Amino acid sequence: MSLDQLLEWIPTGGAEEALARQIEMDRLPRHVAIIMDGNGRWAGQRHLPRVEGHRAGIDSVRDVVETSARLGLDVLTLYAFSVENWKRPATEISTLMMLLKRYLRLELSTLLRNNIRFRVIGRTDALAPDIMEELLAAERKTSTNTGMLFNIALNYGGRTEIVDAARRAMASGLGPQDLDEDRFAGFLYTAGQPDPDLLIRTSGEMRVSNFLLWQIAYAEIWVTDTLWPDFRCRHLLEGVLAYQKRDRRFGGITPPVAAGVK
Ligand code: IPE
Ligand code: IPE
Ligand code: MG
Repeated sequence: MSLDQLLEWIPTGGAEEALARQIEMDRLPRHVAIIMDGNGRWAGQRHLPRVEGHRAGIDSVRDVVETSARLGLDVLTLYAFSVENWKRPATEISTLMMLLKRYLRLELSTLLRNNIRFRVIGRTDALAPDIMEELLAAERKTSTNTGMLFNIALNYGGRTEIVDAARRAMASGLGPQDLDEDRFAGFLYTAGQPDPDLLIRTSGEMRVSNFLLWQIAYAEIWVTDTLWPDFRCRHLLEGVLAYQKRDRRFGGITPPVAAGVK
């Protein structure tokens, strides 16, 4: 998509438009991954039960998915439920799953309208059958879309993913000498996808919480204090602008400096 597609959708003359116009469209991150955090605190600040934070967080998901597609990202990955999140109370978990199911039902038309391909990454075999059915239906119905790929990380753990990849690599019959970084990446849940260029975490926490451990090796990390239910298009654009100011060296040195160094 493009700047025009984005401008068509955001309020004219507002903060979003000013931010959008500053973005260098030919230097967009190809893949943005987001750790959506702070729903419980958002609810706590309002003296509401934690699940109300999750409910409110759905509006942020809607906004961010459509903004990302219109902006022209290749891949957006949202961290929705970690392998560690099973430690939470059963009622919170079941509400989260119910919200996810409802989101997929209600938003399928948005995904289709925006040419978005939906995929779930994680140990999905441990999810309840009704949730699986909904996820598979959304994957199937969007499978021929050619626009942005939208990954949702569900029952996802970075270490689990690496172990699963190692198991697959061993089962594939590849010899130890045949395995290299590229081949190994081909056994991850994200096989064939570009690594995240930008990793966003909301609610101010400075940690990666077992998210995409392999893939974020050289991601630029942007942490905002904004709690997930308050996160909107504007914040995503702020994150992209911050990313565009970074000097990505990948272990090398910046070209202008390199030119002057003997
Ligand atoms: C993120 O918000 C949502 C999930 C992890 C599913 P939290 O529920 O972690 O909210 P805080 O961090 O307790 O505020
Ligand atoms: C990370 O948030 C997981 C998701 C956003 C799904 P958590 O709230 O579970 O992470 P910690 O416990 O603060 O590290
Ligand atoms: Mg949290």
